Amino acid sequence: MPNDGRIPPDRLRSARWFAPDDLRSFGHRSRLMQLGYAEEEFRGRPIIGILNTWSEINSCHGHFRERARDVKRGVQMAGGLPLEMPALSVDESFTKPTSMLYRNMLAMETEEMIRSHPFDGVVLMGGCDKTTPGLVMGAITAGVPFVYLPAGPMLRGNFAGRTLGSGSDAWKYWDERRAGNVTDAEWLGLQGGIARSHGTCMTMGTASTMTAIVDAMGLSLTGSSPIPAVDAEHQRMGAACGRRIVDMVWEALTPDRIVTAASVRNAAIVAMATGCSTNAVVHLIAMARRAGVELTLDDLDALGRDTPLIANVRPSGKDYLMEDFHFAGGLRALMAQIAARLDTSCLTVTGRTLGEELEGAQVHNTDDIRPLSNPVYAEGSLAVLRGNLAPNGAIIKPAACDPRFWVHEGPALVFDSYPAMKAAIDDEDLDVTPDTVLVLRNAGPQGGPGMPEWGMLPIPKALIKQGHRDMLRISDARMSGTSYGACVLHVAPESFVGGPLALLKTGDIVRMDLPNRRLDMVVDEAELEARRAAWKPPEPRFQRGWGWMFSRHVGQADTGCDFDFLTRAHGSAAGEPDI
Ligand code: FES
Ligand code: MG
Repeated sequence: MPNDGRIPPDRLRSARWFAPDDLRSFGHRSRLMQLGYAEEEFRGRPIIGILNTWSEINSCHGHFRERARDVKRGVQMAGGLPLEMPALSVDESFTKPTSMLYRNMLAMETEEMIRSHPFDGVVLMGGCDKTTPGLVMGAITAGVPFVYLPAGPMLRGNFAGRTLGSGSDAWKYWDERRAGNVTDAEWLGLQGGIARSHGTCMTMGTASTMTAIVDAMGLSLTGSSPIPAVDAEHQRMGAACGRRIVDMVWEALTPDRIVTAASVRNAAIVAMATGCSTNAVVHLIAMARRAGVELTLDDLDALGRDTPLIANVRPSGKDYLMEDFHFAGGLRALMAQIAARLDTSCLTVTGRTLGEELEGAQVHNTDDIRPLSNPVYAEGSLAVLRGNLAPNGAIIKPAACDPRFWVHEGPALVFDSYPAMKAAIDDEDLDVTPDTVLVLRNAGPQGGPGMPEWGMLPIPKALIKQGHRDMLRISDARMSGTSYGACVLHVAPESFVGGPLALLKTGDIVRMDLPNRRLDMVVDEAELEARRAAWKPPEPRFQRGWGWMFSRHVGQADTGCDFDFLTRAHGSAAGEPDI
């Protein structure tokens, strides 16, 4: 047993279940034997839980059944006993009204399943948007050693010889179809070609952003996040995760040694340099807080002003997709480019520092992973706006919006619900001009509910037909990481709980000043006061069940939308279970 200088086998967490000569432990051992394992296979060996978010309806994780076998191979090779366990598969495509409603459910499940089972270490298998923060939030709180195994991006999309990017090209060609420029046959071809293999969206959407963040934080094998899902390298990486988690158990390499203020900052800088999804803000704040690290919107804005965007990956970049990014050197090469800005002394799951992990990393395509002297965009990916419309902040992705909107003033056109907006938007007589500011409210954490990805409001058909493809849009919703445009998101506090967005009326002038980070409605204070006094809270969305609990406990976007009773501020996590 490889325990030289490491914890002795009787200090394994699982020894509490399996070692004592008492009736309970007899029961635990007999049940492992019922599963077909001999004593030699589990006595004194690390028991490794594999939390697998595979599901038949999660197309992004379609390869996870086989991948779990690779992980097991690695665990066994290193002398551990792997036990796979299903975890809630919050998929992005099918879960309504939004997968975000269930991120915290996965976080709770992860925390509780780790705590209540005899796992010495855990491999978390996720990748599709919310699965990454959900698994990681729960596992940070549970506190046992873990490795995050990222699903990896799917292959590039293709139709008729044209490369297609997840999400981004769906929006783009949908606008063209609405303009009458795409035939039925072409539309069917696009439908079949845009997602060609298992794996997560292959633009720098939320999935690739979140796996990059967790990788940069030190929680994945360094640089593993962009390995394509169906590449043999991904199988080898799975086995390596299995081998490594066994050693992490012997080394007692717990997440509190990895997730620190410095590693969270590294993750935020890397997110900015990759052209991250706006969703990164909510999840990064939530994960950091689980580790006791206070990360604020202002911290992120400051890092955003200071960090050049150097990954030329769509949608913020123009030309490349995740597969190209990987072969251009991937996340290790990107981090090596900005190493001077990172704290390279941070420890990673490999047991080595980030700096050691970046040694020898090379860029193979300097157009894809740009040098600092030639960034895609001189500032980072995200900016935080404040003003009388968003006193607690709102988010915009400057690189993804037409620069003519950076300083903009126009009349608001306000919709109170998504269905109302959807019903009106294709009306060719809708009263809009290119200066109009489209507003959707009641789409935040409580209003949506779950803050759906509705924030890239469709351009009204009347403007599409005139050739317009961007306009200023504001909501308390999120938007997909693959979206683009002049979309102000995450307005906090949300309108559903009486945030000032609730007071805005159609025709009011709205002003955005991105260089000065302002977002205001030009309405005088006395008038706002009168509107505030007349405002009535909407009916609660839920009478029972998960939604009822969600509505009572979810926080606002600026603090990460975690449940109040799951944050550290609520008290310390439960200790080890009684056995
Ligand atoms: Fe799963 Fe995009 S839908 S990552
Ligand atoms: Mg997405």
